[in-house]
Amino acid sequence: MPALNMCSVLFVGGGQREMGEEESGFVDMEWCLALPKIELHAHLNGSVRDATLLELAKDLGNKGVLVFSDVEHVIKKSDRSLAECFKLFDLIHIITTDHATVSRITKEVVEDFAAENVVYLELRTTPKTNETIGMTKSSYVEAVMKGLRAVETVEVVLSPCASTLEPEPSTSVNDASTKKKQGRIFVCLLLSIDRRETTASAMETVQLALKMRNQGVVGLDLSGNPITGDWITFLPALSCAREQGLPITLHCGEVRNPKEIKAMLEFCPERIGHACCLEDEEWKMLKSLNIPVEICLTSNVRTNSISSLHDHHFDDLYRVNHPLILCTDDVGIFSTSLSHEYYLAASTFGLSKAQMFELSRGAIRHIFAQDGVKAFLNEVFDSAQTGLLWRK
Ligand code: IMP
Ligand code: ZN
Repeated sequence: MPALNMCSVLFVGGGQREMGEEESGFVDMEWCLALPKIELHAHLNGSVRDATLLELAKDLGNKGVLVFSDVEHVIKKSDRSLAECFKLFDLIHIITTDHATVSRITKEVVEDFAAENVVYLELRTTPKTNETIGMTKSSYVEAVMKGLRAVETVEVVLSPCASTLEPEPSTSVNDASTKKKQGRIFVCLLLSIDRRETTASAMETVQLALKMRNQGVVGLDLSGNPITGDWITFLPALSCAREQGLPITLHCGEVRNPKEIKAMLEFCPERIGHACCLEDEEWKMLKSLNIPVEICLTSNVRTNSISSLHDHHFDDLYRVNHPLILCTDDVGIFSTSLSHEYYLAASTFGLSKAQMFELSRGAIRHIFAQDGVKAFLNEVFDSAQTGLLWRK
């Protein structure tokens, strides 16, 4: 015991507690909302508010670009298979892919995450081109940046990538002084490569990510319909990113594909998403390589990658202390939130507040931003700990 005032302070499981306080009750949704959280797997266009999608679709309907009644029920439907999700993404991309709308949805998505106490967000998005409106991959990402600067409710801090050669300070990108702003959120971008892309197009995304790694781009993601494209197509671009020290996360094992899963694990990415359909050999490999897994409970069940929450591999990974991070994937598509994913994990697998707190804090170890951000985030958790774990 440290030489503190031993009458008034007890140390329990790493936490610090005043005399007269007792461990507070079960994890409920309110507690999950109050918990500081770290989101490492969120797709921009999968996180758009339904209300915004409907409003934008109506506008395009009025302009004769689409027939609103044809798309309204597609947007409103809540239970979707994996194949239906990708059809919806194609529709969302038609609705959202112009510069002004990309900025708008970015602003709203960040404000929504901040409103549920997400303190660090790695937002991923696929840079897109559209010659008819002068959109290049670079101008797409600029539009995302503009959305970050437009955030009104919270101070947005952009942090450079951990692999940046010169340590760069994290910087606020919006006006932090406005009265309306409540708190601070660190936001970093991951640029996604879509599995429909060619090697050249993937390489263009990697070059863009490397160019922007001082400006908030902290890594790369490989995503898209898992039954499309071959790992070998993206390997040259991902290897190039790896050589330059840019961290990588891969969507891995959303469907059964042992050959690809093995190749992905052999590449040893900094993190993987999902890991649902691994067989014994790949499962052993994942564990022995200790690759952190981004777990998206609702997404996996909704898309039938996992048959039920109780059968989810979260349980196995958690019990053996494998590094894992609870994430949302697509809050819009799956009508969820990060707080709800924490609530689901606690209620399904019987985890206490102390365990959920440590699960949330543990995500800090796996962020792609510079180390200075980790220290700041640890302070955020330190100051939230007593209020969340103990009551008088
Ligand atoms: P965007 O990159 O901002 O356009 O976000 C939507 C895109 O993310 C989709 O078109 C997919 O490429 C990818 N995505 C979203 N959810 C999933 C998923 O569950 N599996 C694989 N890819 C996904
Ligand atoms: Zn995903």
